[in-house]
Amino acid sequence: MPDISKLSKEQAAKELERLAKEIAKSDEAYYQHDDPYLTDAEYDKLKHLNEAIENKYPDLVRSDSPSKRVGAPVKSDFKKITHKVPMLSLADIFSEEELADFVKGVQKFLNTEEDIEFTAEPKMDGLSFSARYEDGILVSGATRGDGKIGEDITDNLRVIKGLPHKVEAADFPQVMEMRGEVYMSKADFFALNEKNKEENKKPFANPRNAAAGSLRQLDAGITKERKLSLLVYTWGEVSKVSWKSQSEFLEKVKGWGFPVNPYNRLCHNLSEIIESYESLLNNRADLAYDIDGIVYKVNSLELQARLGFLTRTPRWAVAHKFPAEQAVTRIENIRVQVGRTGALTPVADLEPINVGGVVVSHATLHNEDEIKRKDIRIGDYVVIQRAGDVIPQVVSVVLEKRSPGLKEYEFPKTCPECGAHAIREEDEAVRRCTGGLSCPAQAIERIKHFVSREAFNIEGLGSKIVEEFFNEGILQNPADIFTLEERNGGYEDDLFSANQGIHLENREGWGKKSADNLFKAIRSRQQISLPRFIYALGIRQVGAATSLLIAKNYGSFSNFMEKMRIGDTEKLVSIDGIGEAMSKDITEFFKEEHNLRIIAKLLNYVKVEDFEDTTDYNSPLSGKTVVFTGTLEKMTRAEAKAKALSLGAKVVGSVSGSTDYVIMGSSAGSKAQKAQDLGVKILSEEDFLSLIG
Ligand code: IVH
Repeated sequence: MPDISKLSKEQAAKELERLAKEIAKSDEAYYQHDDPYLTDAEYDKLKHLNEAIENKYPDLVRSDSPSKRVGAPVKSDFKKITHKVPMLSLADIFSEEELADFVKGVQKFLNTEEDIEFTAEPKMDGLSFSARYEDGILVSGATRGDGKIGEDITDNLRVIKGLPHKVEAADFPQVMEMRGEVYMSKADFFALNEKNKEENKKPFANPRNAAAGSLRQLDAGITKERKLSLLVYTWGEVSKVSWKSQSEFLEKVKGWGFPVNPYNRLCHNLSEIIESYESLLNNRADLAYDIDGIVYKVNSLELQARLGFLTRTPRWAVAHKFPAEQAVTRIENIRVQVGRTGALTPVADLEPINVGGVVVSHATLHNEDEIKRKDIRIGDYVVIQRAGDVIPQVVSVVLEKRSPGLKEYEFPKTCPECGAHAIREEDEAVRRCTGGLSCPAQAIERIKHFVSREAFNIEGLGSKIVEEFFNEGILQNPADIFTLEERNGGYEDDLFSANQGIHLENREGWGKKSADNLFKAIRSRQQISLPRFIYALGIRQVGAATSLLIAKNYGSFSNFMEKMRIGDTEKLVSIDGIGEAMSKDITEFFKEEHNLRIIAKLLNYVKVEDFEDTTDYNSPLSGKTVVFTGTLEKMTRAEAKAKALSLGAKVVGSVSGSTDYVIMGSSAGSKAQKAQDLGVKILSEEDFLSLIG
């Protein structure tokens, strides 16, 4: 941190201006695009610096100062909801000392020396929501936004499992706003990122961003596909408060059928609070979701009322943040891995180190620009961070510890696996090996992809086995899988046949049964659907959804292949959802001689089913663009969408001038308004049903 005492007033004003801009930019990336570029620690540093300068020069505090904001202004695409009771933030503390000060401060304010009860609640690392019930019915939902105005996420909240749509308990207040946190479990986060990776989409940085990105979707259908969870921990507007304490509220909430964190505790004095902090900190890594600290709240509502609020935070609660899960260690080596499509990914091998209870020995370095930007060198000491992230990251280099003579890292220009040129295309962050399938790393990854669940789904051919088979020469490419059985059983000295020495049943841990099972699994896949087959080819950027689009539009593999072979892309580029870059990757794939050779071989063994298009092109919805909004009564949104698709409609998420119909369920939000503004025809659920007969 620069020495603030040396800052002239003029410099301070300049610095505050810079910080306001920088923090606003980072806030926008974090809150509105769910795509942060600063680490939490980097961000906190900027905030602290801003605060320190403002403390020294209070008259320089800007009207757009970051210290005056909570969260971010609402994204404009959503309808806005004004919170009847503002959604506040909490002051942060970082040490046991500050905790003791907080508890003492509360006692002093209340003019008592007696112990005060506090709840200790895990601080969920997600995003807060407010769900409003009237007469027991969920009527609307909102994000926090800037604390006063949030985004209308009613449709999105409705599809999250666990949030009751209706509460019938007799003591449930007539107006009741439930507030809590929407989050994504670590397991669901990993699964989502796996899927994103397969589909060549950018993975989310951590579960919090994944949750935010999934909740703030204009199309609630997408929210539903992502697995989100939520917990309730406080309330907003309530017609009649019938509980006397926070712990009583949490009990009631549970009884009404809302999810409440089972780790919430009631503490009777400071030492119990410290105990709960330590036990939670120790269990942190084992929890199914990320927490970034613990929230203490004065239990009694009467005392809370006496304590009241500061400008943006209550005086009766505080957030005790966990130390960032960071540690310093040395980079022993930088390795470059080669993926299925030839992408080179640098990985740091680390001197193993314990970061927040987990031993870390590798960290991702993302790509060559990242290494350059942070100037990471082999032998450097670096700060490692394990946020909610799956893969630990290198935050920064500890320059003071750099030994003299460490050379700048030079990213390889050739593939470390096969030696082929590795090139970087314009606008691309990744460098790729040009070796194609002659590169063993790419060949192995290709086979793994081919047998994976959404592709041929061949049980018994897991990653490890594929690697072994490849390295032993048993499998060189996907087509070899289908000749495995006929090649099995040869003799070591049978020099003239191709089945030299393959005896799967004799492998360690195998036996006749496992070999037979594998052959059986392979045989059962010799007939396959068109989308699976296209997906299995492993064309860059072509995930399962794109494969389905291609299958739909081309009908048969021979038709698709023929068009690609002669370079006829007219249809391809006209498919909604296939852009220019993807279409280029597809045509390039079919220009490669070795790809054509493998496909030809595959087709000797595999029958690819034609895609049966069951779409009714004579229906009144055929060719129409439709949008669903609100809650439907007679069917789920997914059913309605599937029906519309089968009738030849194009279903999209947002209303525009080219929308033909908006089908409106109950409590429809901004989309209905927009349709009206644009003069798009609005159909009720009944209208929709009678239209489609
Ligand atoms: S209470 C007036 N309880 O932390 C008090 N907040 O820094 C309002 N959070 O915006 C919040 N777990 O997103 C409360 N058990 C918990 C919480 C919690 C996570 C988040 C919430 C809030 C932020 C405040």
